[in-house]
Amino acid sequence: MFDEGQLYSPVTEHADGRVEVHLGADHPGFTDAAYRGRRGEIAAAALAWTPGTPIPVIDYTDAENEVWRIASAELAPKHAVRAHSEYLAAKAALDLPADRVPQLSEVSARLQPLTGWTYACAPGLVALREFYGSLGARVFHSTQYLRHPSQPLYTPEPDIIHEVIGHANQLASPRFARLTEAAGRASLRVQTDAAMKVIADVFWFSMEFGVMREQGELKAYGAGILSSYGEMDAFSHMEIRPLDIAAMARVDYDITTYQSTLFCAESLDELEDVVGVFFETVDDDSPDRIDAAWARDLASH
Ligand code: TRP
Ligand code: FE
Repeated sequence: MFDEGQLYSPVTEHADGRVEVHLGADHPGFTDAAYRGRRGEIAAAALAWTPGTPIPVIDYTDAENEVWRIASAELAPKHAVRAHSEYLAAKAALDLPADRVPQLSEVSARLQPLTGWTYACAPGLVALREFYGSLGARVFHSTQYLRHPSQPLYTPEPDIIHEVIGHANQLASPRFARLTEAAGRASLRVQTDAAMKVIADVFWFSMEFGVMREQGELKAYGAGILSSYGEMDAFSHMEIRPLDIAAMARVDYDITTYQSTLFCAESLDELEDVVGVFFETVDDDSPDRIDAAWARDLASH
């Protein structure tokens, strides 16, 4: 089910220093040589970066700034109507530019005083353990490239629009930031891959694709919905289930399309009581307990 390796295009560093990004045949940039070249340049900057030094500044082109501007402009009215107020307040507090791509250093500078989080750059996929381990230290690994201009409103792989408009705005909320940090700390505590997978799956259905009831209406707070114009329109028509850790950890899902099953928190308090407490208590025995609960659930339906 969850193979985060499928999400990102593989990056190869050649002996001569050239960096190549391998886009799949179904990627909107597959036949665009200029886009592929640009992806290589941006990945090279992240590969050359040493933690502890300033994050490389990317000199975004007018076309890239335009993709950001379009996505920001299209998402803003959707957010106003269908995003949870906790996200909207955090987004207002972070106050990132809508007319150009912000540098990750700028994102960090604004986020840190709010919740203590900073951004680090990544050429593409970051290993699961490394990605989550960093969340435990309030560091978010982010790509710096932009989705292909032919499809500004949805992308098959996470880009800086997702990482920043989705996650950074979310992380500007102290409550969402604490939940995200708790997932990271959980990853540092567990040893087994099965336990790590359970954490990643619950994270998927909460911080990535979570929805929440607010004054009777269904609102999005998950970063993966909030960065995708198409999913902002579609999410309320999906199968909506109550928060349930066993189901979140065991239900099947496809990471390459709109999520068809979503889990709804009745309030931020409930999200913290169920998902937050899970992240704070998950251990290497959790997968077995979850399997037992899931089997009981299936037997009772
Ligand atoms: N579809 C998201 C967007 O358009 C980006 C994205 C692709 C994503 N794969 C993901 C987000 C997996 C979260 C998880 O912004
Ligand atoms: Fe994400």
